[in-house]
Amino acid sequence: MISTDAQEREEAVAALQVPDLTVVLPTYNERGNVAPMVEALRTALDGIAWEVIFVDDNSPDGTAAAARDIARKDPRVRVIRRVGRRGLSGACVEGMLASSAPFVAVMDADLQHDETLLPRMLAILKTGETDLVVASRKAEGGAMGEGLSTLRTWGSNLANGLAQKLLKVSLSDPMSGFFMLRRAVADELAPKLSSQGFKILLDIVATGGGKLRIRELPFVFRERRHGDSKLDTLVTLDYLGLLVSKYFGDLVSVRFLMFSLVGASGVLVHLLALRAALVALDLEFNVAQTLATFVAMTSNFLLNNRLTYRDRRLTGFGMLRGLLTFYAVCSVGVLANVGVASLIYDQQPVWWLAGTAGAAMGAVWNYAASSVLTWRK
Ligand code: GDD
Ligand code: MN
Repeated sequence: MISTDAQEREEAVAALQVPDLTVVLPTYNERGNVAPMVEALRTALDGIAWEVIFVDDNSPDGTAAAARDIARKDPRVRVIRRVGRRGLSGACVEGMLASSAPFVAVMDADLQHDETLLPRMLAILKTGETDLVVASRKAEGGAMGEGLSTLRTWGSNLANGLAQKLLKVSLSDPMSGFFMLRRAVADELAPKLSSQGFKILLDIVATGGGKLRIRELPFVFRERRHGDSKLDTLVTLDYLGLLVSKYFGDLVSVRFLMFSLVGASGVLVHLLALRAALVALDLEFNVAQTLATFVAMTSNFLLNNRLTYRDRRLTGFGMLRGLLTFYAVCSVGVLANVGVASLIYDQQPVWWLAGTAGAAMGAVWNYAASSVLTWRK
């Protein structure tokens, strides 16, 4: 006798078609949403050859296992479990690249996005006149609904306004995480997309330039039922970083920008520590200066580990190794800094010019070297 599971699976395999549409669902701690989400897709996509790919960043709540349980019975359900990496944008990119269907959709896995929109989005793309369909909460007929707090709505408006101004992006909702595109477009742009943060759509549009033919469809953002939102201050900071970096035509990466900001904060930390060492501890200047340097380097290390490299975050013993290599990198950085500064000062004795050039040289060195030695992939 065949068990119901096996029977169910057999029927599903028999009905299997090469998918026309891949729905990419990034997940982090969404266990409770997995089954209802698949059920919602089954209903909404009836009559369409589809598959869904959960891209899970090794959620501690066992989201990947929950998705696999369903995948065992329904081959339209696929799971990518990423270990050692975190990041919504990166997860979306990886999901899109794992698809072989002509069309891919990206949406939240927490039922906040209206899946009944998917067939219409697909129909629009199939006409061949559009490359990207964006489900927008800000387009006529769409709404933020119950999905966002007042503070979040305010922040989201600010971010949108900035995006429109800085990037000349004509999207009503560039922060939307709900869109569908031709897979060929994703394939082409993928190497240039940032893997951190929540700004995947904005990144696609800014990177694709004016070439993309875009259409918007309104939708109402639903309230989250299970689990919590993962959008926090770091995500917002990261989004601002992308705006600035795109504004300067990708001249500087978001990472370098963040690294430089951390470096600037280090100067402040250094001065505060120096003052404390001189005044409170009554140390000799040279000793105090050395102490302050180590305090600033340590603070830079911790902040970079938390912010700049949070996707490659070091923990436990790796953190100690990382800290020591970071000290080493920074020591050489000081030499590079002083070397360049005095070289320039010899040619052109303008203190601020030489000083700035030296500091920039030190920052570039520290950034390049620490990305290879401290936060290596
Ligand atoms: N793989 C992976 N890795 N998935 C993640 C990560 C991550 O680091 N962080 C979040 N996710 C998943 C969540 O599990 C969820 O399915 C989806 O990405 C959206 O995350 P939420 O935490 O639910 O975001 P939100 O609802 O607060 O934010 C919504 O509004 C933003 C703009 O205001 C989303 O629609 C965002 O996409 C949108 O940018
Ligand atoms: Mn959500």
